[in-house]
Amino acid sequence: MPERGANPAEPLPPERELQSLRRSLLRWFDCSKRDLPWRRTRDPYRIWLSECMLQQTRVETVIPYYQRFLAAFPTATALADASLQRVLKLWAGLGYYARARNLHRAAQIIATQHAGHVPESAAALAELPGVGRYTAAAVASIAFGEPVAAVDGNIQRVLARLLAVTAPIDAAATRTRLWSLAETLLDRKRPGAFNEALMELGATLCTPTAPRCHECPLAKWCVAHRSGRTADLPVKARRSAPTTLRIEAIAIRRDARLLLLQRPPSGLYGGMWELPSLATDSHAGEGTTAPRLSAFASDHHGITIETPRCVGTVTHVLTHRRMLVRVWIAGFRSGRARRGSHAAARWISRPGRADLPIAVLDRRTLELAESTK
Ligand code: ADE
Repeated sequence: MPERGANPAEPLPPERELQSLRRSLLRWFDCSKRDLPWRRTRDPYRIWLSECMLQQTRVETVIPYYQRFLAAFPTATALADASLQRVLKLWAGLGYYARARNLHRAAQIIATQHAGHVPESAAALAELPGVGRYTAAAVASIAFGEPVAAVDGNIQRVLARLLAVTAPIDAAATRTRLWSLAETLLDRKRPGAFNEALMELGATLCTPTAPRCHECPLAKWCVAHRSGRTADLPVKARRSAPTTLRIEAIAIRRDARLLLLQRPPSGLYGGMWELPSLATDSHAGEGTTAPRLSAFASDHHGITIETPRCVGTVTHVLTHRRMLVRVWIAGFRSGRARRGSHAAARWISRPGRADLPIAVLDRRTLELAESTK
């Protein structure tokens, strides 16, 4: 068994062992890494885009979005010149739409203040909208070889097991400690490959359940593996249960068109299009909700509608919230549609919707409304 460092709070092997650990990890990565599109390029713009898309999103989901996005916007300047609508449209379905808005704003800063070149240091990258400590370090190390550690969720798990960190990994103090451990472990000659190798290990072998320790290049040094504690680590503080958001959405039909609203540019789903809707504490009976929706259409959007009819419910689960959308349809009677607190209101046909950024939840809501005669 390798010797341990003197400080029990940071149970790192001595430097000689660390060198051997780094070599083992990098050799494994060089032989076993997945062939991913952003690993075939050294273009910092592409690497930055991949890191933005990969935040909270799985590799398999990201790949087709990444390719379509780059076909439309091959450079930071092309992205800066595009409309936000077009950017959101190409992002629709990936979720966490603030990422797309930040990416667009950051591209405009790169175009105007950095002559179209992605900044080269983690410190400069971190000045861009939407670029946090992890993304700045990942891009700086992978694209520019800066020796900085990048710790994402996968790496937190790998480090918590490797070093048997028993404090909850979602506590701020533990995160700080994991970052500092990662800095010590980092291979300073190949920092980008080292960071990606730890990510890859977390994604493919050191998975949350049933880790494949017999294939792991770090098994020899892994305290959790050696002491049979992989199933118990990492420890997470108990998550609060996701909150449930109940929404009444109404498809108002006027000939072959529906009234759609564009959300204000910032906030949840900012800039995306949706049906008029009302949030409620609990879904009241249909008999009381129908007149409420009629009053809502009239008070907020200036139109009179026929009595709404409920056609079903759509459920959507996000990390911290569950949305239950009850879907209604009603015919338009009269009035001129106002946008209310939204950014825009338009009567839009089904083909007209194809060009609009619409989140997955709202697409499903629309499909349910349209599948009903
Ligand atoms: N997750 C975050 N960054 C990644 C990368 N560069 N490769 C694979 N998965 C990742």
